[in-house]
Amino acid sequence: MCGIVGYIGAQNSVPVLINGLESLEYRGYDSAGVAVLSEGVINIRKTKGKVANLRDLLLEQPAAGNAGIGHTRWATHGAPSDENAHPHFSNDDKIAVVHNGIIENYQELKARLQEKGYVFHSDTDTETVAHLIDDFYKQGNDLLESVRKTLNVIEGSYALGVLCTDYPDQIIAARKESPLIVGIGKGENFIASDIPAILKYTKDAYILGDKEFALIKADEIKIYDIDGNEVHHDVYTYSWDVEAAQKNGYDHFMLKEIYEQPKVVSDNLARRFSEDGKHIELDGIKLGKAELENINQIYIVACGTAYYAGLVGKYLLERMVRIPVNAEVASEFRYKDPLIDEHTLVIVVSQSGETADTHSALKLAKAKGSRVLGVVNAVGSSIARDSDDVLYTLAGFEIAVASTKAFSAQVIAMYLITLHIAQELGTLDEKNFVEIKNALMKLPSQINDILTKAVPAIRGFVDKYIGSKNVFYVGRGLDYVVGMEGSLKLKEIAYLHSEPYAAGELKHGPIALIESATLVVGVVTQEALFDKTKSNLQEVKARGAKVLAIAMQGNTSIEEVADDVIYIPRTHWMLTSVLANIPQQLFAYYMALGLGEDIDKPRNLAKSVTVE
Ligand code: F6R
Repeated sequence: MCGIVGYIGAQNSVPVLINGLESLEYRGYDSAGVAVLSEGVINIRKTKGKVANLRDLLLEQPAAGNAGIGHTRWATHGAPSDENAHPHFSNDDKIAVVHNGIIENYQELKARLQEKGYVFHSDTDTETVAHLIDDFYKQGNDLLESVRKTLNVIEGSYALGVLCTDYPDQIIAARKESPLIVGIGKGENFIASDIPAILKYTKDAYILGDKEFALIKADEIKIYDIDGNEVHHDVYTYSWDVEAAQKNGYDHFMLKEIYEQPKVVSDNLARRFSEDGKHIELDGIKLGKAELENINQIYIVACGTAYYAGLVGKYLLERMVRIPVNAEVASEFRYKDPLIDEHTLVIVVSQSGETADTHSALKLAKAKGSRVLGVVNAVGSSIARDSDDVLYTLAGFEIAVASTKAFSAQVIAMYLITLHIAQELGTLDEKNFVEIKNALMKLPSQINDILTKAVPAIRGFVDKYIGSKNVFYVGRGLDYVVGMEGSLKLKEIAYLHSEPYAAGELKHGPIALIESATLVVGVVTQEALFDKTKSNLQEVKARGAKVLAIAMQGNTSIEEVADDVIYIPRTHWMLTSVLANIPQQLFAYYMALGLGEDIDKPRNLAKSVTVE
């Protein structure tokens, strides 16, 4: 949500800012703008709509300067409009500010500033920050101190970039709960919400901590805590290259990311087993037998797709470790006064590591004394930093808003965590462990198999079912969870109304909605539940529904009730979720393609949801 990029150095900042903003488009936004400083004047260009509109505006009204800040805005306070787009000026055009996050006490601050004579030109919470810095500045503080004082009065979350005409050789950045990194160049430095924005120029960065701010000059970076004490961070070098943030010949990032899954899964399995192959070894997790014996329940907390990956974990852990596991969406968990304590392990799952609800859930869990295990993709993100133990999901950049490869990586993490806990607590014997391990190792080539063989059939099913208005995803156990993820993908990118249902629950209400040609996707990979789900599919078929089934190779009797079947390679019952989800991803992708939707940037959605 929202993207920030900033530059100071010998180059004209405008192309750097525009390229950076384009690389951050995946985060989701509805307006864009830049502020550039040259010869004592800050020029702001901003507009509703895409970065391409901003490019056009800059052709009509050029701007240049060696220091600049840029922003893509995802509207929270005030509609998407030119006025509400960032950057925002202080009243005398001396200070310009870009901001991600939400200033929760902005109304009270705004009223105070208005009493002092400040005039507001937008509906945003951000404009308050520009005026506040200005107010402290006018009281005789220098710019850095004015920013620090401002940080002490604003409440909520922020990543900020600040430019001031009196300090043409610096930009100031600050962060609390919204991501921001300071990119380190040679004779030039950067700020960015995420590394793709500046990867063209540098892979080295400081990851700002919570409530820290930085003074950035072309050849110097100083970082301070909120009390003004200088702090020192190690340089983090990103291993990804520019290629990783490009489509590389694919029409969409989503398709590229779907096809990256064999590698992602194999990366996540590499080096996770002891040399003798008999144990799981998870770097970064210090949850041994003693710690685990102290735990009497597990909570898995996340949002959206990450939550569904967590649900896979719930089914597996309960079945294999026989310990009570609750899976909750973070936005509910955080406000329900959950029954957790120091004997609870809370597993939080997040691709971005910045999701506001998940992060707040983590903080609540820690405040109640629970141990928090983060399953996170983005290195150095807030959730990774604040977790007691972190298992990184090694999915690389995920740029398409709809999550695909990150889900697969999260599910693999759930497999590994389950195996680890089961082994430590002695609920899994060596024979079963080896059997599951062997099946795990086959997953990358099995995914590859689906990706190379299933596409023509899936495209055919898309042609057949593209007119569907309502789609149901049904299954039992792990298949039900996979259906939830399939249904979400279809909603997100094809804008098709779809609902996941536990197959056995259909007859308790939703079956009333089944009519001629309603599409029902039946996920039937759990062999122990095969006959049960098959009967439920028979029931919808009898009421005129079209049934598209996803089943394991060999279970051909599903053809008795299904109009069409996609077969996945045979695997251990525990591991079907990853495989069964691949055809669902492709189905949603080709549906959205057929319907002409904006696949990588679906309406109203943002990649990293940093507001509640
Ligand atoms: C769906 C999707 C979202 C995210 C959710 C959590 O395709 O991407 O549902 O899974 O917003 O995001 P993270 O994993 O970054 O916490």
